[in-house]
Amino acid sequence: VKTSLCLLWVSSILSAPVNKERQKLLLISFDGFRWDYDRDVDTPNLDKMAKDGVKALYVTPPYLTVTSPTHFTLLTGRYIENHGVIHNMWFNTATTEKKPYYPTQFVNDWWDNGTLPIWITAQRQGLKAGSLHFPGTASSYQGQVAMVREIEPPLYNYKNETVWQDNTDKVMGWFKYQDLDFVSMYFGEPDGTGHKYGPDSPERREMVKQVDRTVGYIRQSAELHGLDNSLNIIITADHGMSTVYRNNQVEAITLYKIPGFSFKDLSFHLVDYGPSGMLLPKPGLLEKVYNALKGAHPHLHVYKKEEMPARLHFAKNDRILPIILWADPGYVINGVLQSNKGEHGFDNENMDMKPFFRAVGPAFRRNLEVEPFETVNIYPLMCHILGIQPEVNDGHLTATKHMLVTSEAPQGQVTITFCLHPKSLSSLLQDSNGIDHYVLQ
Ligand SMILES: *[C@@H]1O[C@H](CO)[C@@H](O)[C@H](O)[C@H]1NC(C)=O
Ligand SMILES: *[C@@H]1O[C@H](CO)[C@@H](O)[C@H](O)[C@H]1NC(C)=O
Ligand SMILES: [Zn+2]
Repeated sequence: VKTSLCLLWVSSILSAPVNKERQKLLLISFDGFRWDYDRDVDTPNLDKMAKDGVKALYVTPPYLTVTSPTHFTLLTGRYIENHGVIHNMWFNTATTEKKPYYPTQFVNDWWDNGTLPIWITAQRQGLKAGSLHFPGTASSYQGQVAMVREIEPPLYNYKNETVWQDNTDKVMGWFKYQDLDFVSMYFGEPDGTGHKYGPDSPERREMVKQVDRTVGYIRQSAELHGLDNSLNIIITADHGMSTVYRNNQVEAITLYKIPGFSFKDLSFHLVDYGPSGMLLPKPGLLEKVYNALKGAHPHLHVYKKEEMPARLHFAKNDRILPIILWADPGYVINGVLQSNKGEHGFDNENMDMKPFFRAVGPAFRRNLEVEPFETVNIYPLMCHILGIQPEVNDGHLTATKHMLVTSEAPQGQVTITFCLHPKSLSSLLQDSNGIDHYVLQ
């Protein structure tokens, strides 16, 4: 009894918010902005932002590297197998029904699967949160929604720069006139252009210039709204983009042509979706399907769910199907045929899948380039800046906290008398966030 009492007391100290001044935070995602997109384009505004704040060389998204799952990781700090939004597409294996990205935004049960996004957590702790177009915005979570929100209409033009500027001013107005503390904001580019023309195309470089101009516009709008001293801005993305080799350059992966494999052996499949696929074989046919595909193509990886590499954190969820496929960079998995020149959805170790990361504002240090980190760690950083208690998550504040100005760190030392064996004490300290020094007595 004594030990557990002490533990309770310690954890409430370790997790207490340390910053006293209220900080606002804007989380921005430019879909598919690969970490190195600023290397072959002049990006004066992104460069200025790095000088005024923090830049990571790159960040590592969770696997599966597609839009809705990775964005929900930004909002929750959980790996995809833990938050449950395992794909852009909602599906029902019993009826074989599937919904594309946009209609899936409105399938409440798909999103509200036990993990709370930061908007809801912030609001439960007395803050005000908003969201514009960010994946997950349309859903409610345990009956609650972001208090100010805007969802893009169907057939939305994700590329219009004038609309990007109007949306920016709208969000700054939310901070200024409705006194919101946190807003997430989404731009659908340069993903669309990267898919259509490929990441090495002149069209993609032009779109990066548009993103850069918009970054300048965002910072200017924040200044004009008088938000410089309170607003922190994080700009990142959900995944990168990789060139798909043309069918006459390489031997394409085309499932229906693989000897011994038949779609008739499946009750349900999700393929023709870039380099990733999931299959549900009919009862009794798992081994047959698996054996037909395993080793069938040198650039096709075939895994039973329970054999998935643990580092991918993409297995332990009932929604993930029994056979998981992915292709090496350059390749996609064709059920029949695909035509994009750029794709994502590859292994998150692949450099082409890494997004960029920039942050600026009163909480952040200036002119600092940090080492790469996983995007699960952005969530605890955001909670820390906002001064809210995070939900259970897979991130660690220790991975991102060094970006913050020292006044954000705990003041002075915390002295704790432990009633624990030293061994359990050291594991406790490794797991704890938000504390710099330990004095053992
Ligand atoms: C998550 O969704 C699955 C169905 O896909 C359902 O069985 C499960 O109960 C849901 N869990 C929660 C906590 O909503
Ligand atoms: C972009 O949006 C503005 C403002 O809504 C509109 O006037 C303009 O026609 C749009 N441009 C394109 C190319 O769609
Ligand atoms: Zn995306």
